[in-house]
Amino acid sequence: MTFLLLLATLWFGVPAASQPASAAASAKSWLGREAAIEAHLRAAEVTKLEAIGTGVTRPQRAYLQPAAPVASLVWKPLAPGRRGGHWESYKSEIAAYELDRLLQLHMVPPAVERRIGDDAGAAIMWLEGPRSVKQAGGHVPSGPIWGGAIRRMKMFDNLIGNPDRNAGNILIGAPGELILIDHSRAFLSDTRLEKFERVDAALWEGMKRIGDDDLRRVLEPWIDRPAIDALLERRARMAATIDRLVAAKGRASVIIP
Ligand SMILES: Nc1ncnc2c1ncn2[C@@H]1O[C@H](COP(=O)(O)OP(=O)(O)O)[C@@H](O)[C@H]1O
Ligand SMILES: [Mg+2]
Repeated sequence: MTFLLLLATLWFGVPAASQPASAAASAKSWLGREAAIEAHLRAAEVTKLEAIGTGVTRPQRAYLQPAAPVASLVWKPLAPGRRGGHWESYKSEIAAYELDRLLQLHMVPPAVERRIGDDAGAAIMWLEGPRSVKQAGGHVPSGPIWGGAIRRMKMFDNLIGNPDRNAGNILIGAPGELILIDHSRAFLSDTRLEKFERVDAALWEGMKRIGDDDLRRVLEPWIDRPAIDALLERRARMAATIDRLVAAKGRASVIIP
């Protein structure tokens, strides 16, 4: 029985449901295994904490025992508050992940709340392979295969009010894959949008379809009411901008399948 299971695992690899189009190459190793990874991030024993050494909020990397299904996590015990002129909260990391799940965006690695020692914080899955845009030389990849991921990233950042999408906060996965990290400063109450010209059709459908009640239910544990109201207002502003762009340029050049 065990042998058969092993054989099946070797043969089929990860469960079929989790396999995106470019299955073998995907760097989004959490997809289809979210529940097990979240449980491990929440409860696994931490054997070592080390400074990541880059980044301004000085996150740490925590190593886990056992080392599967995830061997280490990013540890951000950022209690909600202002630091150096920026509002920051570890809870925003979790809200970004929960919203990614609700939208089926598949770009934000799992993030959960836990304690390590006396601190509460966000425990975020560490991705072993991918480098950040900063580590890769500072340029967001360009060309046709990257357009969709870039559009989805910009839409997500507008929705969550994220002022902090710098080169250190984008990881490069398989060709066409971007992975979004570091949302501790997102969910601003500012309702202004970054300028955009095009949106991804499926993601925009998803963003429109999700009811206010579902959004509130998912975000309420992590984000205060004015910030949730601001997110809903930004979505309304995105809709108005898209209507205006479609009227001026035609649907086909604005809403990209
Ligand atoms: N989940 C992750 N997987 C792999 N590397 C990560 C992850 N999170 C952060 N890093 C690396 O650590 C750096 C700093 O983390 P980040 O969350 O951006 O913190 P800061 O708020 O200090 O900028 C990132 O630029 C990236 O290189
Ligand atoms: Mg960062």
